[in-house]
Amino acid sequence: MKFFVSVVMFFVLLKCFTAAQTLIQDSCKTAAAKDPNLKYDLCVQSFEQDPQSKIATSLSGLVLASTNNAASKTINVKGIVETILKSKKYAPGTESALRTCVELYDDANDSLKEALTNIKSGDYRSANVHLSAALDEPGTCEDGFKEKHVKSPVTNENNVLFQKILIPLAFTNMF
Ligand SMILES: *[C@@H]1O[C@H](CO)[C@@H](O)[C@H](O)[C@H]1NC(C)=O
Repeated sequence: MKFFVSVVMFFVLLKCFTAAQTLIQDSCKTAAAKDPNLKYDLCVQSFEQDPQSKIATSLSGLVLASTNNAASKTINVKGIVETILKSKKYAPGTESALRTCVELYDDANDSLKEALTNIKSGDYRSANVHLSAALDEPGTCEDGFKEKHVKSPVTNENNVLFQKILIPLAFTNMF
């Protein structure tokens, strides 16, 4: 009897995970078809690495999870830039651009927090506006280095951050 219950529990859990996986793949497919900047593989991977997404049962659950994920990444990248500034190991002429990036990540963090409030109240239109504002920040950070003709030490991080913000932004267009 105990064994039987375990077997049933196993299949119930398996079904839950499979359902979440299908939701993730279908949603990422739709989003990538609508937005050529959004990479399907990165979208699926980003959700599959996130415990909150694995149990999502709806598109709104995925929007919430991916916005939280984008906010964590923003704080992570801000920390990387602050570490570079503290270490003083940066190319000459890059300090002011690095400091500007820290401010841009703060702005992105604020926009993402606003978006989270909107999402929790089901206001996806306002969430979309705040996510769009946040999406501009990694590119603006990169522009600061280009203007000074110096190499950005965080290009890869900014590309990843862009994708992380693009996912919930694309998903808010799917309601
Ligand atoms: C992100 O924003 C929230 C609220 O706007 C703030 O409380 C938090 O300290 C910010 N995090 C960072 C790392 O700046």
